[in-house]
Amino acid sequence: MNSMRPLAGRVALVTGAGPGLGRALARGLAEAGADLVVCDINEASLAAARAAVEETGAECLTVRCDVSDSAAVQRMFVEAAERFAEPPASAHVRKDDGDAELVQKVGAASEILRPGAR
Ligand SMILES: NC(=O)c1ccc[n+]([C@@H]2O[C@H](COP(=O)([O-])OP(=O)(O)OC[C@H]3O[C@@H](n4cnc5c(N)ncnc54)[C@H](O)[C@@H]3O)[C@@H](O)[C@H]2O)c1
Repeated sequence: MNSMRPLAGRVALVTGAGPGLGRALARGLAEAGADLVVCDINEASLAAARAAVEETGAECLTVRCDVSDSAAVQRMFVEAAERFAEPPASAHVRKDDGDAELVQKVGAASEILRPGAR
């Protein structure tokens, strides 16, 4: 582990991260080596948050998401998995069943996003 970048190889998700404390937290996680998924219900605030993260050299996925909407949160996890990880090689993804595929992808994202997963 790089002691200057202890979160290298990890992906962190920060909600309500367009301005304020969330943006500062996202920036701090990026400086510690993580790549970021940054979400806010206010889409206009996301460009500045992305800039704050990318200035550190980290990758940043911005997502407009209302975290009180569980379907929107699931879609955000799918987007995160598509951007930052392949589904596990052993996953059985049933192409004829959209729900099963979604669960697999959300599961993959949850693993990646869980602290210490990598
Ligand atoms: N700033 C402080 O000094 C301070 C001190 C103590 C506690 N807090 C609390 O910490 C939290 C963050 O503070 P802040 O100053 O960064 O606030 P902020 O208002 O600058 O940022 C909050 C962000 O959350 C977003 N948001 C609101 N509802 C959302 C939803 N359903 N889904 C996704 N995003 C949503 C907003 O669009 C906004 O961009 C607040 O709850 C605040 O009350 C702040």
